[in-house]
Amino acid sequence: MYKAKAYSAASEKSPLASTTIARRDPTENDVQIEILFCGICHSDLHQARNEWSGVMPTVYPCVPGHEIVGRVTKTGPAVIKFKVGDLAAVGCMVDSDGTCSECKQFLEQFCPNLTLTYNFPDKHTGGVTYGGYSDSIVVDQKFVFKVPSNLDPAGAAPLLCAGITTYSPMRHWGVTKGKKVGIVGLGGLGHMGLKFAHALGAHVVLFTTSPNKKQDALRLGADEVVISRNADEMAKHAGSFDFILDAVSADHDINAYLNLLRRDGNITLVGAPEKPLAVSAFSLLFGRHSISGSPIGGTAETQEMLDFCGKHNITADVEVIPIQKVNEAYDRLVKADVKYRFVIDMASLKNEA
Ligand SMILES: NC(=O)c1ccc[n+]([C@@H]2O[C@H](COP(=O)([O-])OP(=O)(O)OC[C@H]3O[C@@H](n4cnc5c(N)ncnc54)[C@H](OP(=O)(O)O)[C@@H]3O)[C@@H](O)[C@H]2O)c1
Ligand SMILES: [Zn+2]
Ligand SMILES: [Zn+2]
Repeated sequence: MYKAKAYSAASEKSPLASTTIARRDPTENDVQIEILFCGICHSDLHQARNEWSGVMPTVYPCVPGHEIVGRVTKTGPAVIKFKVGDLAAVGCMVDSDGTCSECKQFLEQFCPNLTLTYNFPDKHTGGVTYGGYSDSIVVDQKFVFKVPSNLDPAGAAPLLCAGITTYSPMRHWGVTKGKKVGIVGLGGLGHMGLKFAHALGAHVVLFTTSPNKKQDALRLGADEVVISRNADEMAKHAGSFDFILDAVSADHDINAYLNLLRRDGNITLVGAPEKPLAVSAFSLLFGRHSISGSPIGGTAETQEMLDFCGKHNITADVEVIPIQKVNEAYDRLVKADVKYRFVIDMASLKNEA
C-alpha cells in the first residue's frame, strides 16, 4: 500500500477537504495512473451529500470522481495494453467478476458483482473504493481505456461518464439520420447527448429551463431549442419525437415529455434525481409510449465511444478548476450554472500538504 493525496467528504454535511488515502501497489494486471484531470459529475455531488441514501448509501470518508484521465506510471507484469507514459482513462467501473453472461458480452455495467470506482466495497483493500479526486489510482487493465491522441485530455475526461452514459442509450435505441431526438437538460450529460445526437445525424431538439443557454445549445449541435417552462413552445412538438433522453438531476414533470413522443416513442432516463418521478398512466398508454433507464456503458462500448470521439473530434466543453474550488463548483451545479462540465486540474492537489 502507498499513500495518495485526495479530496474527500467526511459526512453528508461536510464540504470536501484535503486528505490522504491508502492505495494498493499495482498487482499482476494493474495499471497505476498519475491523474491529470478528473471531471465533476452530478453523481459525485449526489453521493458526497448522501442524496441516494435509499439506493446506495454513502460510506464516509467519500472520495468521488469517475471521469479520470492521466499518465501511466507503473504496470503489473501481466499488463500488455499499456506502458509507462501512455495516456489512459478510467470511468465509473473498476472491477467485475469477469465470468457472468453480462461480463462475457462486455456489458459489465450489469454484472451482479460490479465494483464502481468510488463508494463500493473494494475487493483488494477490504474498505471502499476511492475515486478520481486524487493524485493517483490503481486499476485493473480491463477497466482502463486508451484516449485518442488528437483529443485534449481535460476535455476528454468527461467522456468517461457523461460521454458513455449518453452515447450508450442512443446506440441502443437507434438514434440515426431521419430520427427526431430530444435532449432534456443542458448540463454535463445533456451537452454530450447533444453532440452525439448531432454527430449521429438526428434532428435534435434541446429542452432547457435556462433561457441563457439557448445560443450555446445551437452551437453545440441543436437544430431547435425549447424553453421547457413555456407551455406553448412545448405544445408545438406534441406527438413528434422518436426518442428523448432525459438528463435532469432534479425533480421535474416527466409527463410533459412523454406527451411529446410519437407512437411507440421512448424516453430514456439517465438523470437520477433524489426523489421518485410521478408518471401518469395516460401519458404512456396513449401512443404506446415507453419509459426506460440506462446506466453508464460497458467496457467495449466505452472504448468504441472514445474512438468515435477521436474520429469526430468530440470532447466536452469544460471549465477547468483547481481542486480548491470543488465546493464552489458543487454549489454552482445545484443552480444549473455549469458550462458544461467542471474538470479538476489535478496538478492543484500538489499545493496541499
Ligand atoms: N444513468 C447514469 O449512469 C448516470 C451517469 C452520470 C450521471 N447521472 C445522473 O444524471 C443527472 C445529470 O448529471 P449531470 O452531471 O449532467 O448534471 P448537471 O451537469 O448538473 O446537469 C443537470 C441539468 O439538469 C437541468 N436541471 C437541473 N435542475 C432542474 C430542475 N429542477 N428542473 C428541470 N431541469 C433541471 C439543468 O439543465 P438546464 O439548465 O438546461 O435546464 C442542469 O444543467 C444526475 O442526476 C446524475 O447523477 C446518471
Ligand atoms: Zn458520472
Ligand atoms: Zn460479471
